[in-house]
Amino acid sequence: MAVGIFDSGLGGLTVLDAVTKRLPDMPIAYLGDSAHAPYGVRDADDVYNLTCASVERLWAAGCDLVILACNTASAAALRRMQEAWVPQDKRVLGVFVPLIEALTERQWGDNSPPREVAVKHVALFATPATVASRAFQRELAFRAIGVDVEAQACGGVVDAIEDGDLILAEALVRSHVEALQRKMPTPEAAILGCTHYPLMEEAFRAALGPNVKVFSQADLVAESLADYLQRHPDLRGSGDCSVFLTTGDPRRVSDKATQFLRRQIAFDAA
Ligand code: DGL
Repeated sequence: MAVGIFDSGLGGLTVLDAVTKRLPDMPIAYLGDSAHAPYGVRDADDVYNLTCASVERLWAAGCDLVILACNTASAAALRRMQEAWVPQDKRVLGVFVPLIEALTERQWGDNSPPREVAVKHVALFATPATVASRAFQRELAFRAIGVDVEAQACGGVVDAIEDGDLILAEALVRSHVEALQRKMPTPEAAILGCTHYPLMEEAFRAALGPNVKVFSQADLVAESLADYLQRHPDLRGSGDCSVFLTTGDPRRVSDKATQFLRRQIAFDAA
């Protein structure tokens, strides 16, 4: 049994880490498409084609269920994949819904009509492609009314993280938060809508100040995956050991992953 976790690069490791803590015995096949990161500046067709190729690789690694631990792929490609591409015996899930359910105080799968919720002013930090897709606002509108969302496209942050330049990433986070605050001075909540951003969570929190509740995806996705697998045990694929695959340079990616997760991670070529 193995579950697949996909990201354009290293960001999905934040989800992998949370899933490993929540489901310690679950083998995971991770694929980071570092050769093509960042996805956030690509158009929707490009993101779709790259994501399908990576998901196919994870099926070949023995997965029947793949989590797109990438908001950009979840926003720009997931719906199209689910509608016309995913075979009947496989599943591909995204990372948006658990986050929006937490923000709107809903239980998993509560499909009741949209209603008023406690937060009224929400800052969304995401990649340019995720912001352009408006997928977050669409999913939110199914569940909540009267929520004002201000989205900030955080250009450059994913590149800086992938390059391991955390000083640049921090400076960019500060300037993106300032840009957001010029449009929405006092958000009540902030969504880190890119799986790379938890690696910069301290910087986001420091720039936003103590009065903003920060929602980040990893634990929410891990919890909803555990719940999903309990309801669909047949989707634990046939793979029986964890693997880390990259389309980039395995040595370089292993070094960065080890630095971010503070434990030894060895990637192989995809
Ligand atoms: N971690 C991906 C996300 O959640 C980063 C996308 C990118 O490669 O720009 O959107």
